[in-house]
Amino acid sequence: MSAINRMDNPVCPASPDEATLADAEVLECPYPTYSLLREQAPVFQDPRTGIWVITRYEDLRMVCLDTERFSNHRPSNDHAKLTGNARKAYELFLEKGWVPGESLAARDDPEHKQMRAIFDAAFRPKRIKALDGEVKVLAYELINAFIDDGHCNFVKQFAVPLPLIIICRQMGATEEDIWQIKAWTDAWYRGRGFDLSEAEVIWATEMEIQAQHYFQPIFERLRRAPDGTLLSDLVNTPVPGWGRTLSDNELHAEMMQDTFVGGSETTTNALSAGIMLLARNPGVWEQLKADPDKHLRTFCEEVVRLESPVQGLTRTAKTDITLHGVTIPKGAVIDARFAAGNRDPAQFERPDDVELERRNAASHLGYSSGTHYCLGAPLARRELYWGFKAFIDNVEDFRLTPGRNDLRHYPNYGLRALNELHIEFTVRADRRSVG
Ligand code: HEM
Repeated sequence: MSAINRMDNPVCPASPDEATLADAEVLECPYPTYSLLREQAPVFQDPRTGIWVITRYEDLRMVCLDTERFSNHRPSNDHAKLTGNARKAYELFLEKGWVPGESLAARDDPEHKQMRAIFDAAFRPKRIKALDGEVKVLAYELINAFIDDGHCNFVKQFAVPLPLIIICRQMGATEEDIWQIKAWTDAWYRGRGFDLSEAEVIWATEMEIQAQHYFQPIFERLRRAPDGTLLSDLVNTPVPGWGRTLSDNELHAEMMQDTFVGGSETTTNALSAGIMLLARNPGVWEQLKADPDKHLRTFCEEVVRLESPVQGLTRTAKTDITLHGVTIPKGAVIDARFAAGNRDPAQFERPDDVELERRNAASHLGYSSGTHYCLGAPLARRELYWGFKAFIDNVEDFRLTPGRNDLRHYPNYGLRALNELHIEFTVRADRRSVG
């Protein structure tokens, strides 16, 4: 295994019979398991979850592109069929908040296409370009706040606030509330693990309902007085073919799933993963520092490829599907494991290494592919670019603070999130406090 993503004793199943992805130790370093599945069981039914896991690059692209056979619809949206904890959560939403509607990411065409039109308009290139200057200023401001200390917790002091403040400004939220919002987004994805107790599900649902009560008055204000922000566009633009704007329930689903979790947690995790990769690959750090103009864009792609903040997302089989001689039955849940495809040697040479000269770096599946391709990718790319650029412009050298990092990830099936990242650094003599 390469020097990166090293763990003392990663779980290395000897055969697919021993493999599972529903285990916190496996998820801590899933790459040996991905490699085994890619080679020996490219269509693998996980015995612990019943989910069908797809791991080869070409197969994953096919899954993303073939919307006739693979649906984004999630069974959790069929409210009448909910049982157990899922039903309890649904009833709590009914009683105290808003039952989240189907998000953009969970819809199929034609509804997906119609809804995506208002999102594409809201995320138009002109707006992302206008945000670029804001992202840059904020990245340097955040570094300036801790540069004289010579050390920081990079997750808390940089990787969380950068994307979260940017999205707060666009979604009508107040910057001072970012830690409250972060607590809600953490609860959101922690409430989606396997084997959760009833108490855990209720806690996560209550947290989401708190967030709904925070956002609801913002929707109402923007309906009365549009203000040109991204959320204002989403609230007020009618969906083509629907004859109406998004309902409160649909907007609440967007706020949590697609925007604050999908758009902010992911970028946070990519920023922290990038600094961890640089700490473990001093040669890459030197190369990047020597010529950021040449290498930085590729580095941003390599981070998303190698550490895939979204490790995988589900699809549902619309029909019986046979692939590599294995039949996935109609109705089965499929896990498109983007992170496994991103290290497929059939697509990427030396797939476990950061390669700043990699020509096909951007062909990774970290932002998915096809019709559900990440809507926020242009913004995420600018946040990663300015995040790392501000770091390079200020830091001469750095290392992980001895004794302060366990470098473990929060155990989550879908998202890969470093808990913390303490670093100590020396400052560049020619440091730049503005970009
Ligand atoms: C490094 C950061 C990011 C990563 C790795 C990432 C990853 C992804 C992935 C893998 C999907 C595909 C869903 C699928 O195929 O089912 C997706 C969709 C989406 N992302 Fe991102 N994302 C990032 C940043 C953002 C940002 C900054 C935003 C917005 C502020 C955003 C908003 C969305 C939305 C709305 C969708 C749904 C698109 C659709 O279904 O049409 N993402 N993202």
